[in-house]
Amino acid sequence: MARRPEPLLAALLLLLLGCPGAPGGPPAAPPAAPPLLPPGAIAQPLPRLPDEGPVYAIDPLPARTPALVPGAGRDALVAHCSTCHSTAYVTLQPPLPEAGWRATLEKMQRTYGAEVPDAAAEQVLAYLAAHYTPETIDAAYVALQGAPAPDDAGARVYRTACAPCHQPDGKGLPGAFPPLVGHAATLAADRREHLVRLALFGQQGPIEAAGQRFDAAMPGASHLSDEELAAVLNYVTRAWGNDARLPADAAPFRPDEVGRARGMSMTPREVHALRGP
Ligand code: HEC
Ligand code: HEC
Repeated sequence: MARRPEPLLAALLLLLLGCPGAPGGPPAAPPAAPPLLPPGAIAQPLPRLPDEGPVYAIDPLPARTPALVPGAGRDALVAHCSTCHSTAYVTLQPPLPEAGWRATLEKMQRTYGAEVPDAAAEQVLAYLAAHYTPETIDAAYVALQGAPAPDDAGARVYRTACAPCHQPDGKGLPGAFPPLVGHAATLAADRREHLVRLALFGQQGPIEAAGQRFDAAMPGASHLSDEELAAVLNYVTRAWGNDARLPADAAPFRPDEVGRARGMSMTPREVHALRGP
């Protein structure tokens, strides 16, 4: 009689501690992993039929798909990382070390509930680690069509300060970021001082660029030096064939012009007001 409570207590303890050796049969097998999706299996939001009842109908959402470096794992990224947001969310980030990408992926899965099977997550991670880290991003941009030579000072500033939005090939993203191909050369010809203010202080307000309308906000880059900003302005007004569109006598941007404009310290809306139509 005196010994009876002991096995009961032991069983209770085992249950409480969740030990797999607890009485009640072998541990349950882990659930089977969901199958890998073929690339393109999940599309960006589909257009829907308008006015089919008492529901609010909207136009198809724009699918903003940035250029992604070719490489193993890209298909997994496109299939699994463009259901909730565009893959532009990935290319908009500053290049992260592998551990940073791993933490981002874990956040997508655990915090936001992204149902990315582990095998696909490993493929995505390997792809990001191979092409989108501080060490590999230069080669990635060179691999993308129209990418600049990596040793030009302006091209280097462009890659980290502008390309996340305006894209490595300068073509922008429709509805989000204006193209600089063609447009930057036009601005350099007609609105040179505006370009300097824009680079320093950003801009907010409606504009037309290369025949498209934009109404968004660009942050300024006043954390960059006068030399860096002059170099990047020379780069965007000459790269991608823009040099052929500049007036023959167009002078390069100089650091002292940037230095003088820096003292004005404007808001992005003030830059827009001074831009003119
Ligand atoms: C279930 C929806 C969902 C899926 C699937 C998803 N994400 Fe996200 N993601 C989010 C949400 C929500 C945010 C935060 C949006 C915000 O803050 O504006 C986000 C933000 C991000 C950001 C911005 C930086 C950050 O940490 O917030 C990155 C980078 C990103 N996602 C990468 C990925 C990658 C890579 C994948 C594919 C493995 C993925 N996402 C799949 C929901 C998702
Ligand atoms: C965070 C995204 C982002 C970054 C980074 C960015 N831009 Fe922009 N850029 C925009 C947006 C958005 C607009 C449109 C602003 C508007 O609607 O007024 C724009 C507009 C422009 C224009 C057209 C301006 C006009 O008035 O027609 C030029 C030129 C430009 N950016 C150059 C640059 C350069 C050079 C850099 C890097 C130093 C840069 N941008 C960095 C988002 C960005």
